[in-house]
Amino acid sequence: MTTTSTSALEDIQARESRHVLQTYRRAPLAFVRGKGVRLYDSEGREYLDLLSGIGVASLGHAHEGLALAIADQAKTLLHTSNLFFHPLQGQVGERLASLSGLSRVFICNSGTEAVEACLKFARRYWYTRGEPRAEIIALEESFHGRTMGALSVTSDEHYRTPFEPLLPGVRFVPVNDPAALLAAVSSNTAAIIAEPVQGEGGVRPLTQAFADAINEACAKTGALLIADEVQSGLGRTGQPFYFNALGLKPHLVSVGKALGGGVPVGAALISDEVASKISYGDHGSTYGGNLLACRAALCFLGELTEGGLIDHVRRVGRFFEQRLREVAARHAIVKDVRGAGLIWGLELSQDAAPVVPAGLAHGVVVNRTAETVVRLLPPLVITEAEAGEALDRLDAALGAIGA
Ligand SMILES: Cc1ncc(COP(=O)(O)O)c(C=O)c1O
Repeated sequence: MTTTSTSALEDIQARESRHVLQTYRRAPLAFVRGKGVRLYDSEGREYLDLLSGIGVASLGHAHEGLALAIADQAKTLLHTSNLFFHPLQGQVGERLASLSGLSRVFICNSGTEAVEACLKFARRYWYTRGEPRAEIIALEESFHGRTMGALSVTSDEHYRTPFEPLLPGVRFVPVNDPAALLAAVSSNTAAIIAEPVQGEGGVRPLTQAFADAINEACAKTGALLIADEVQSGLGRTGQPFYFNALGLKPHLVSVGKALGGGVPVGAALISDEVASKISYGDHGSTYGGNLLACRAALCFLGELTEGGLIDHVRRVGRFFEQRLREVAARHAIVKDVRGAGLIWGLELSQDAAPVVPAGLAHGVVVNRTAETVVRLLPPLVITEAEAGEALDRLDAALGAIGA
């Protein structure tokens, strides 16, 4: 389907504009292939990818091992449903359990489904205990997904209002305000849900004081903690999960994005205590955890642990931060640099939207979130040399905006 003729992009755009529901405002370019951290568009231009499809292409593009695993699985068996056993789900469960310390996994197909599963399991936990609790405490600036449950704990009015009424019983507290959190959580609270690093909200790590308050509130009231690590988890911060860095003790953890390296797969990770309250038939998914998804997840998890990817992120992350801070210091419009490992945000004193096309013009893919933040989520396999080159391009793009 791909062509390098000058009309390739116009053809793609024209067809989409007629037949694809117009919910995405796309940049005027189409990527047609990639290799490692490099992407190539329909006109043959090359880019360094500092976004990895919003934190998904964790192993980079066209990763040899992942491509071979997927092809081999496709030639063997793709899907049989959850009516039967297959050899791979237990292996994914084992690996995620040893990485997270939460003993059980429910595999689904996306981040929002992982959040839905966590919300359902929290409700079910209290229902089984015979003291139904419906209240959920969520954070301002949060983003948890677009399905009705996940949307109900997402704070942005712009996403919520057209779809109300949403789930009742959700209260939002200001992020990193320990007193407000402690005042809000009570013995009616079923769960607190929080992203250890708020991603869409502008790359805002929770403070240690706030994490301590979450632990205190859970210990006092019995409320469960759902850590949404869809964006921040699985090595992205140089830790298996950012809840590790903060000393949080979640009962439920949602993951997605990086897990399949581009194959859609998400998962809810579940503590023994919560898992013991879940019964057959409580939740399910036709596709969830099929052989293709599990094979991709196993490939990624193998790279993450045996392949040394977490150590790699920690090392390259230090270099990335140092270079990013040097770049930031050269541009008066950059007010703040936040993040860890390979998730970074540059807070600007103005709308960050113009940085995206300027980046593309200079051959680097970045994203704008929370209006004023340039978000960077490179593939976890990026090298120091590639990071240096990409940040030079971002430097030039920021210069073009400043000018
Ligand atoms: C923290 C967090 N949770 C949930 C989601 C939803 O994931 P998905 O888009 O795969 O449904 C996202 C997506 O950006 C996210 O960042």
